[in-house]
Amino acid sequence: MNYMNAVRKQVRIAPSILSADFARLGEQLAAAERGGADIIHVDVMDGHFVPNITVGPLVVEAVRRSTSLPLHVHLMIERPADFVRQFAAAGADMLIVHQEHNWTLHRLLDDIRQANVKPGIALNPTTPIGCLEEAIPFVDLVLMMTVEPGFGGQHFIPTMYDKIARLRYFLKQHGRPDIEIEIDGGVNTTTVARLVEAGTDVLVAGAAVFASGRPVEQAIEELRAAALVAQPPS
Ligand code: DX5
Ligand code: ZN
Repeated sequence: MNYMNAVRKQVRIAPSILSADFARLGEQLAAAERGGADIIHVDVMDGHFVPNITVGPLVVEAVRRSTSLPLHVHLMIERPADFVRQFAAAGADMLIVHQEHNWTLHRLLDDIRQANVKPGIALNPTTPIGCLEEAIPFVDLVLMMTVEPGFGGQHFIPTMYDKIARLRYFLKQHGRPDIEIEIDGGVNTTTVARLVEAGTDVLVAGAAVFASGRPVEQAIEELRAAALVAQPPS
C-alpha cells in the first residue's frame, strides 16, 4: 500500500433498507451494524418522481431509534422542499435531493443546511455532470445513480464507471475534492472493485446486503473484502 492509499479514507458501505424485510427492520439494522455498515441509506419515493412508493418520515424516525449509524435519506419525491423539516426532525443526518426537476435548488439546499442536516445532490444516469457546476458550492456529497431510480435489484449500467471517474475529476477541477461520491444502484461483489478504482467514497447496496441469500453480516463483510483489494485513485 503506498502513502496516498494509506492516508485515503476507506470506502464506506451504506446498506439501503429498500431490500430489507420491513417486518424485521430493527433486527436487520442490528445485523447491518454488526456486519460493519458505516451508514444506513433510506430511499423515500412518492410514486410521482419515480414509479414506486416507499417510506416517509415515520420510518426514518423508527430507523433513527434502531441504530446509531448516520442516516442518509435519499429523496426521490416531487416536492422535497415541503418535507425538509419533517425529515430533519425524524433524525436524518444527510438529505440527498435530485438535480432533476428541482428548479429552486439553491433555496432547497440552504433550507437543508439551516435545518442542521448535511445537503447532498443526486444525479440520474443520463443527467450530465456539468449541471452540478452551480450547485457544488452548497453540497457535501454527490450521489450518482448507476441504475434508473425507483427499484432495488437492477443491473449496474456499465458506462457509469467512466462517469464516476469524470465526476471525481470535475470535483477536483472545481476545487471541491472534499465532496464525497456516493454510488447508488447495482453495487455488488462483482462491481465493487471497479467502483472503488473509479473513485467512490460511499457504496450504497440494497439487494447485495438484504437479498443475497446470505446473512446480512456476511454480505457486508464480502463487499468490504471486495473493496479492500481494489486500488483507489490517488
Ligand atoms: C433505487 C435506490 C437505491 C436502491 C439500490 O432508486 O435509490 O438506493 O436501494 O438498490 P440495489 O443496491 O439493490 O441496486
Ligand atoms: Zn438510494
